[in-house]
Order: sequence, then C-alpha cells, then structure tokens
Amino acid sequence: MALLPILRYPDPRLHTQAKPVTAVDAGIRQLVTDMAETMYTAPGIGLAATQVDVHQRVLVLDVSEDKSQLKAFINPEILWREGECVGEEGCLSVPGIYETVTRSERVKVRALDMEGEPFELEADGLLAICLQHEIDHLDGKVFVEYLSRLKLSRIKARLAKQAKIAV
Ligand code: NI
Repeated sequence: MALLPILRYPDPRLHTQAKPVTAVDAGIRQLVTDMAETMYTAPGIGLAATQVDVHQRVLVLDVSEDKSQLKAFINPEILWREGECVGEEGCLSVPGIYETVTRSERVKVRALDMEGEPFELEADGLLAICLQHEIDHLDGKVFVEYLSRLKLSRIKARLAKQAKIAV
C-alpha cells in the first residue's frame, strides 16, 4: 500500500481527460487500494485517479459516517440524471475552499467493479453529488470552474498565498 501525492489546483494536469481502463487487472486493483488509502488518510470522501496524476477512468468514494463503505468505480458513466440540488463542495485538490455548486439531484451510474464486472447504481443526496464531482475530475474539470470568473480568480489568489506559506 502506498500514499499517493495529490495534485493541487491549478495544476494543469488536473485538466487531463482520463482514458478508459481496458483491463481490470492487478495494476488497477493496486491503484484502487492506494487511492482508497490516500483518500482515507487525507481525509476525504472521494478521489479520482486524475487527482493522483493517473489518467485512467477510476474513482473511489466512501460517503458513510464510519468509513465502512468503500466503493470503486471503473469506467463510470452517467446513464441518466434528474432534478437539481445545491450543495457546498470541497476538494482534496483545492484545500480549504468550500463553495456552493448546483448538481443533478439523482443520477444512475454504470461502472465496472474490482473484478471487472459491470454494475449499475442509482444515487441521490451526497453520493450523487460525490459521483458527479469525481466523474468531472476524470473529464478534467474541477468544481471551482463552475463558479464565476471573479470568484475563481479570488480562489486562485488564496491558493497561491497558501502555497507560499506552505513552502
Ligand atoms: Ni475533487
């Protein structure tokens, strides 16, 4: 097991379009294990492979209170979406920033599991929001990019300041 370094916004690698996984093999299972450990340690409720600079369509999440329900989604696709909900989001790649984003209220997702078997899942609430947020990462999109340009430039300035202090 290994902790993976998480890319920080506005790292341009976060804008990479991830490629579909062609075979769910030992390498992908190791990636899922390492991503889960990285997510729990951070701590966070979701992590996309893009955020650890691996540009394959893999994400992990666990929205349970006691961190007992790890879910891995390989090649996730949103089959349908409905409704609208507004919630505050954060991101391990955008530390310390929480902003309100509008998402679909319910989604149905199809993906492969760790054995390479397809499954479908209908989600609402936090799970639906988290899935949309992580799938966006695989498409090279970070949640702050839904905000106004003015807000985004303020966030970039704040992150640059944080980075300086961290050094
Ligand atoms: Ni994120």
